[in-house]
Parts: sequence; C-alpha cells; structure tokens
Amino acid sequence: MTIQLCTHPLAQHLLTGLRSTETDPQHFRPLARRLTTLLALEATQDLPMVATPITTPLEPMEGRVLAQGLVVIPILRAGLAMLEPFMELFPNVSVGYIGLERDHATAVASSYYCKLPNVARQTTLVVDPMLATGGSANQAIELVKAAGGTDVRLVCVVAAPEGVAAVNAAHPDVPLYAASLDRQLNDKKYICPGLGDFGDRLYGTL
Ligand code: PRP
Ligand code: URA
Repeated sequence: MTIQLCTHPLAQHLLTGLRSTETDPQHFRPLARRLTTLLALEATQDLPMVATPITTPLEPMEGRVLAQGLVVIPILRAGLAMLEPFMELFPNVSVGYIGLERDHATAVASSYYCKLPNVARQTTLVVDPMLATGGSANQAIELVKAAGGTDVRLVCVVAAPEGVAAVNAAHPDVPLYAASLDRQLNDKKYICPGLGDFGDRLYGTL
C-alpha cells in the first residue's frame, strides 16, 4: 500500500485549524472543504489522459483531456464534508454513498446504506476524513470491489498507524492519501492527537 501525505504548507495550516478545540462547526466546515481540495488534487494527479485535437485562436494543436470517468464515494456521515470539493473540481463525477457507523462501545462499524454507481473501469475515490481502526474503510473498499471497482483509492484527513496496517493487510493495492499520519489510537479507538469526532464537530452534534 502506498501512502501519500500532503505536506503542502497550506494543508498543514488547515489541518491545524481542524484539530483545534477553538474551531466551531461553522469554521470547521470551510477548513475541511479547503483541505479536501488539496487532497483531491494529490489523489488524482496521475489520472489517465487522452490526446484530443483542438484549435486555439492561433492554430490547431493536440490537447489532453481526462480519459475516463471518476467516482467519488463518501462514507456517511463525516465523508460528506469531503464531497463538494470533488464535485467542484470534477463536475461530471459520479457519486455513490456508503453509510457506516461505529458502535460507541466496540468501535466496530456496521453498514446502514449503500448506493453505488457503475465503478467498473473507473477510478473510484473512497473519501472519509478519519482512518482509525480501518474497519469502516475496509468495509467500504470491499463493497466497491464487490461492485467491480479495480482502481480504488482512499482519501482521508487523518490516519492512524493501526488503520493503515488494517487497510494494508486487506487491500494492499489501495493507495492512501492523507494530510497526516498520527501517533496512535487511544483505548476508545480515537486517533491521537487527532481532531476528535469529525462527524460531531462537522454537524455540531457533540
Ligand atoms: C467515523 C469516521 C470514519 C470512522 C473511522 O465515523 O468518519 O467513518 O469513524 O473509524 P474506523 O477506522 O475505526 O472504522 P463514525 O462511525 O463516527 O460515523 P459518523 O461519520 O456518522 O460520525
Ligand atoms: N472517528 C472519528 O471521527 N475520530 C476518531 O478519532 C476516530 C474515529
């Protein structure tokens, strides 16, 4: 599994804002959107392209355009914070949704919704801000692969080493793009130093 961390100074600046307890939901949401734009560019920098003949106002030339469709699948709820930047950058993206929720006592995620577009022969980006135990990401990737997805990528804001190891064990072919690889999980399976419960901070449900 390859891990690509977004080291751009702006990404780290935005992540610091997300981590701070002084950031309330109305400021948390735009920070998440702006950081996702940077992550989206990282995660798509090798998309296949094809040549296409065009004419500029001065002369004919061979331009290059994206070769194939792109699919983005946010894991509900927190992944919704990352959807809009992808749709702005790639307006004809296809969007699927996977609903997963961790049990508060066991931290094991269970599925409550799945609606996928065609993922065969597409680049599919599974987006979820927090990779903690890796249980949610692994379930989502399994659903995408079962639907025919082959080029599957995982885009997170913060990853824990435990989650990276779990995804690497189950899906070594899936690259990870993240803004930070944090230290460890605590005994409640929250990422440290992390940023707390992303969904709660996004939607003000603390
Ligand atoms: C959070 C987060 C991930 C998951 C990560 O979601 O958004 O989906 O936990 O944890 P894991 O790697 O241990 O599976 P949560 O279950 O809290 O649901 P929410 O997005 O609805 O808040
Ligand atoms: N989900 C979150 O939102 N935060 C964590 O630290 C772990 C799982």
